[in-house]
Amino acid sequence: MTRTDIRHYDHQHAATLRPLLLEVYAEVYAEAAHNDPFAGVDRFAQGLDSWSNRPGWTCTVGYAGDQPVGYAYGAPLRADSPWWGGLLTTVTADLTRESGTRTYALSELMVRTPWRGTGTARALHDALLAERTEERATLLVDQSHPKVHALYESWGWTTLGDLRPRLEGAPLMHAMLLPLPTPTAGDHSHPST
Ligand SMILES: CC(C)(COP(=O)(O)OP(=O)(O)OC[C@H]1O[C@@H](n2cnc3c(N)ncnc32)[C@H](O)[C@@H]1OP(=O)(O)O)[C@@H](O)C(=O)NCCC(=O)NCCS
Repeated sequence: MTRTDIRHYDHQHAATLRPLLLEVYAEVYAEAAHNDPFAGVDRFAQGLDSWSNRPGWTCTVGYAGDQPVGYAYGAPLRADSPWWGGLLTTVTADLTRESGTRTYALSELMVRTPWRGTGTARALHDALLAERTEERATLLVDQSHPKVHALYESWGWTTLGDLRPRLEGAPLMHAMLLPLPTPTAGDHSHPST
């Protein structure tokens, strides 16, 4: 299989990248969208636009030659982020306190079928998070996908609790956290967002 190159993008590239991101999503989630309107491309496009409009949005895309094989994206949680609003598990207030620079939310990670099980997903995930200056990352994984939940646990993520996003038709999710390494002194490759 052709070697996969990972390229980094940010908010400024969102409009150009949008068709590619939607095309890969439509392929990866074709079966899910057939069974569940929540997984439809139109709803995903709304979510993508809302995330990629944020100045702190970042994205990694894997390419085999000029062919996109998958991607990951996210953005820092704002101080007034609704992210934790649907949390159903009782946790101490400090765990869900946001400052705008504390937590990077990994919103999406997907890889086209031929590149599954090849390490491409992990590489996209690692490359995205390696650029971050926040102290931790968070993601939500559908509770009906225990293998994906286990995959994230094997990558070091821990489960904070149950969360149902306050969106019509949203499934029950595991809210997960991953501590991020502190950027080393003198490393200027991490612009603040
Ligand atoms: C999640 C993903 C990026 C992981 O890629 P990967 O590291 O190469 O790992 P795999 O694709 O081998 O997936 C690991 C296991 O989870 C299962 N799995 C992956 N996505 C799944 C999904 N959406 N629903 C149910 N099971 C899923 C796989 O079948 C596999 O099970 P197996 O070990 O029995 O073969 C990739 O599977 C993917 O793109 N899935 C569809 C999109 C998705 O669910 N993204 C995660 C959102 S939180």
